[in-house]
Amino acid sequence: MKLFSGNSNKLLAEKIASRMGISVSPSEIFIFPDGERRIQVQDRVVDEDVIIVQPTTPPVDTNYFELFFLADAAKRSGARSVTAVVPYLGYQRQDHVFRDGEAVSLEVIVNTMQSVSIDKVISFDLHTIKIPEVFSIPMVHLSALELFADEIKKQGWAGLDTVLVSPDMGGIRRIEMISKLLRDMPYTTIEKNRDLATGNVEMAEITGEVTHRVVIVDDMISSGGTIAKAAEALKKRGAKEIYVFATHAVFSAEAPKLLENSVVDKVYVTDSVFVPKEKEFSKLHILSLSEMIAKALE
Ligand code: R5P
Repeated sequence: MKLFSGNSNKLLAEKIASRMGISVSPSEIFIFPDGERRIQVQDRVVDEDVIIVQPTTPPVDTNYFELFFLADAAKRSGARSVTAVVPYLGYQRQDHVFRDGEAVSLEVIVNTMQSVSIDKVISFDLHTIKIPEVFSIPMVHLSALELFADEIKKQGWAGLDTVLVSPDMGGIRRIEMISKLLRDMPYTTIEKNRDLATGNVEMAEITGEVTHRVVIVDDMISSGGTIAKAAEALKKRGAKEIYVFATHAVFSAEAPKLLENSVVDKVYVTDSVFVPKEKEFSKLHILSLSEMIAKALE
């Protein structure tokens, strides 16, 4: 088995390799002055099962193309199979036509992955459970919820004075799942309205009771708007301690500042997305998915 990494999250690739008792294989990702990439696998892969670790976070298109080129390079060099570990799957939110005339970006991505002979994809906490159905190749859909449930227990936040919260109705299945992992801990949801043209978020209504402590669970934090607005709404309804668990720290532009200055007490994310030093903030805690991924690759 050989493991290669794109440029998106080398730290995660190293952690996975180390848990598997192997090293990350060398590759060259040469960037020409015009931005084009020339990619070469620099390890012998003939008849090997190859793993490529590459979450497709911003710059999304560049990261996807590195993944495609690495897969193509491995297959051309004789790899028996290629498994793409894409803990965060870019474009997953555009999984259908929301407004007339739009592209279904996710379908284009999946077709391209299949056309470069990727044999299997491993990903985490996809936006909807329908996404694996878009793939014709095996797609392993893992979840960080167990990791989150363990941390919630460890911190002593699984008691009677706490309620789990989904910041939108779309997260109902996720919140039901983590509630089950925490012995049917109570949960509630917030009704969120997003302007489809601008992406701006407004919190409409909290459906259930708000307790002293709340634990918000979401799949991703992008602009941070959903979490900041949800936390404000919960504070107004009487919450005193607010903790957030979200799998993917996509953290675009102002998100770290927004979260640090929000009424949230702590933000837990995973390393599905690499968080550079300049995006770290004091409320942030990062849990690693490397053990779960290494197990899935056994
Ligand atoms: C949306 O439905 C998702 O579950 C997340 O809540 C959303 O993508 C987060 O985006 P942002 O941080 O930009 O509000």
